[in-house]
Amino acid sequence: MDLGIAGRKAIVCASSRGLGYACAKALAEAGCEVVINGRNAEKLAAAAAELQKTTGAKIIPVAADVASAEGQKILFAACPQPDILVNNNGGPPFRDFRELDRQKILDGVIGNMVVGIELIQKAIDSMIAKKFGRIVNITSGSVKMPLVGLDLSSGARAGLTAFLAGVARSVAGSNVTINFILPGPFETERFRSNVESTVQKKKISYEEAYAERVAAVPAHRIGQPDEFGATCAFLCSTHAGYITGQNILIDGGVFPGAF
Ligand SMILES: NC(=O)c1ccc[n+]([C@@H]2O[C@H](COP(=O)([O-])OP(=O)(O)OC[C@H]3O[C@@H](n4cnc5c(N)ncnc54)[C@H](OP(=O)(O)O)[C@@H]3O)[C@@H](O)[C@H]2O)c1
Repeated sequence: MDLGIAGRKAIVCASSRGLGYACAKALAEAGCEVVINGRNAEKLAAAAAELQKTTGAKIIPVAADVASAEGQKILFAACPQPDILVNNNGGPPFRDFRELDRQKILDGVIGNMVVGIELIQKAIDSMIAKKFGRIVNITSGSVKMPLVGLDLSSGARAGLTAFLAGVARSVAGSNVTINFILPGPFETERFRSNVESTVQKKKISYEEAYAERVAAVPAHRIGQPDEFGATCAFLCSTHAGYITGQNILIDGGVFPGAF
């Protein structure tokens, strides 16, 4: 399918690996010019070189902390008027909620709620003026099915979802869409480090801990980042202009509800 977005400019935050990288790759394959981002400049440069080589698209690496005002400034200097914005950031580690002091709570809310809102504030007016804009927020299956120990992540991401639900309706008439993709378990570095923590906690092997995770997924496997990227690129396509304010779960059937 031709996604109809060749030549469009995209910013994909937190995209030197994992789900962000997969979104950048799918957009580059669709012919977009893509700004990719991460804090580690060396790893980011390697990711940009790989994407450029495999897709032939123009890839602009921007090494910056997306959670900082300075980082956001550098991102938008590289692409002042993006047609597509994919919001992504790291998530907080597993922690008993009693261990969270005020500063940790605020940092989590900034990282997984405030940053997304700030980036949309910077991108949206030029999208409205062009009558084309696609915003995808990577959140988590935990928005619908909170996980104990990831309470801060669930709360901040649910806050972002509710905040943007009204905004999405206010810009839909300008062909600007705002959607959310909610990943279940996907094979990324973050996932592997979560499996490692189970290994340490339960004193079992990596293979056993991995099998435990697979057993909880009706699809009997862990998701591949490319599957996630393809969904993101579709939501950014010309074909998806009538989809807005939606939460798309990609979790192999983990969430047990019909709605
Ligand atoms: N994978 C899953 O199973 C899963 C499930 C549910 C939710 N999620 C959520 O989905 C998001 C992506 O997860 P992932 O699995 O792709 O993670 P990942 O493999 O750890 O990749 C995270 C990416 O974000 C970048 N990054 C992190 N903090 C950043 C910051 N402050 N500024 C700029 N770049 C930053 C990292 O690069 P640097 O470290 O170099 O900055 C890296 O490129 C996370 O919020 C995660 O909580 C993932």
